[in-house]
Amino acid sequence: MSDAPALDTTAVSRLCDDPVMLDDWYPVARSREIVAGTITPATLLGRDLIVWRDAAGAVHVWDDLCIHRGARLSKGWIKDDTVVCPYHGWRFDGQARCVHIPVAPDQPIPPKARAFPVRAQEQDGLVWATLGKPAHPIPAFPARDLPGFRIFHAGPYVYRANGFRAVENFVDATHFPFVHSGLNGVPDAPDIIPDYDVTRSADGLVSSEISVFQPVGDFRKIPVQAGYTYYCLRPLVAAFSKRVRIVDPAQAHLGSPDDRFVTMFTVQPVDEVTSVARVVFAINFAPDLTEADMLPRQDIVYNQDRDIVETQRPERIPVDLRAEMHHRSDRMGVAYRRWLRDLGITYGVIA
Ligand code: FES
Ligand SMILES: [Fe+2]
Repeated sequence: MSDAPALDTTAVSRLCDDPVMLDDWYPVARSREIVAGTITPATLLGRDLIVWRDAAGAVHVWDDLCIHRGARLSKGWIKDDTVVCPYHGWRFDGQARCVHIPVAPDQPIPPKARAFPVRAQEQDGLVWATLGKPAHPIPAFPARDLPGFRIFHAGPYVYRANGFRAVENFVDATHFPFVHSGLNGVPDAPDIIPDYDVTRSADGLVSSEISVFQPVGDFRKIPVQAGYTYYCLRPLVAAFSKRVRIVDPAQAHLGSPDDRFVTMFTVQPVDEVTSVARVVFAINFAPDLTEADMLPRQDIVYNQDRDIVETQRPERIPVDLRAEMHHRSDRMGVAYRRWLRDLGITYGVIA
C-alpha cells in the first residue's frame, strides 16, 4: 500500500464535460476491496460515486447522492442487501430502485425514487466504471492469457498530480537512473538510449524495445539487462512488457532467457490534478516469490515516481508540442502527447 495520505473525496473539483474522457473506462477500486455489506466512496472526473457489492456478488457504482434531499449515500450503510440513505433511511436495491421509505412503509413508492447508477464492470481484479458510453472495451491486462505468468496487484498509489503526467512518467525509460537510483538505473552511469520507434494504431501506441541496465531490475534483487516495450492502451492505461536477462553468468541459473515482467498501469482520474494509480503485474519466473515479497519494491518505485510527478508544473500536461522541450529520447512521450491532442482531449490537458 502507498504511504500517501488518505484521499479526500470531498474535494471540490471541476466536473468533466469532455466527451472523450467521459466515454472511457477507469478503475475506481480493487475488486477485493469491495466486499458485500460495505459502501466505498470514489471520485471519478470530479464526480463523487459509491461502489458497493450486493449479496449475489454484483458490483454497483452509483452517484454519491440521494434523490430525496441530496445527502451522501456514502455516509449510509447496507441493510438487507440495500443501500440505506443516512438522512431519512430510504433504501435502494441492486436495481437502484427505492424499495423502502420508513415514514410510509405501506404506501406505493414513486418510480422517480431511484439511485443514479453508472456502468461498472470487473476485469483483471479491478472495478472499472465509466460516466459515458465507451465505444471500446475495457483494456485487457496484456499477460492475462499468456501461459506461465502469475498475476499480482500493487497500489493504490495516490498521486497529487495529473493522470497524464503519471502515465507519461510510466512510459519514460530515461528517468530510471535518477528517480530509481540503485534499482532501475545507475546515476553515475546512465544508459545511452538509442533511437527507438513508436507506432500508433487503433489500439493506441507501442514502442520498439528499449534496452537498459538495471542493478535491481526485478524482484530477484540481481542485476539485469532489461528490454522495455511500452504500450499506451488508453489515455490513462499504459503497460510495459520487460524482458529481464540476468547479467552475471554465475546467477544465470536463477532465470531463463524468456523471463518477462509485464505491468499494466491504470489511472483513476479523481480530477484534473489528482490521480489514483493501480498496478497489475505478472512474471513468468521465480515461482517461489509471493506478492508480499514483491510489494515492497513496487511501493518504493511508484512512490519515487509519485514524488517527482507531483513536482511537475504546469500540473495539467501540455499537448501543444511547442510547450516544454522534447529530446529524441522522449519519442514515446511526444507520441503520447500527440495522441492525446489528436483524440481531442480537453480535460486535464493544456491544449
Ligand atoms: S436525503 Fe436520502 S432519504 Fe432523505
Ligand atoms: Fe519510474
